[in-house]
Amino acid sequence: MVEQTFIMIKPDGVQRGLIAEIISRFEKKGFTLRAMRLMTVDKSFAETHYQDLSSKPFFAGLVSYIMSGPVVAMVWEGKNVIATGRLLIGATNPAQSAPGTIRGDLAIDIGRNVIHGSDSAESAKAEINLWFPEGDKMSDSMRDVRSIPYIAR
Ligand code: PPS
Repeated sequence: MVEQTFIMIKPDGVQRGLIAEIISRFEKKGFTLRAMRLMTVDKSFAETHYQDLSSKPFFAGLVSYIMSGPVVAMVWEGKNVIATGRLLIGATNPAQSAPGTIRGDLAIDIGRNVIHGSDSAESAKAEINLWFPEGDKMSDSMRDVRSIPYIAR
């Protein structure tokens, strides 16, 4: 089934120069990049993205981490991209991520695990809407050189 997922390269991935490496893995797998934006998020936006985790003890640290520098927000499209994207990413805790996965190859700490991927069709839809609210009709105020228009299918 052709579907879309939201993928974010977290601040540590951007700062460590891993953008091309991560995009290359999704491209080589056969997925299609539909939208991409380099952006820095504020506290309110980060808390909204991670709202399901607000009761977790690591929530404040997670929000600070995501706000700590620019992230690369992306929409990727392809057959089973939500589940397969999570397989490419690897287990949440890099200590348990298999070699060959993004986290297994590129990360060590759960608190600096380089990348986020939607975990279900429901969260993919919500996260795409949060990060790319313009959909396929970008307003002039949203249009800038860092953005590739999101093309809804
Ligand atoms: S949980 O507790 O099962 O709901 O969490 P999990 O699904 O494994 O992870 C959800 C996101 O929380 C991040 N996470 C953490 N960040 C910092 N410190 C700790 N200890 C920690 N545990 C989990 C984890 O990286 C997930 O982030 P995303 O961006 O969704 O991958």
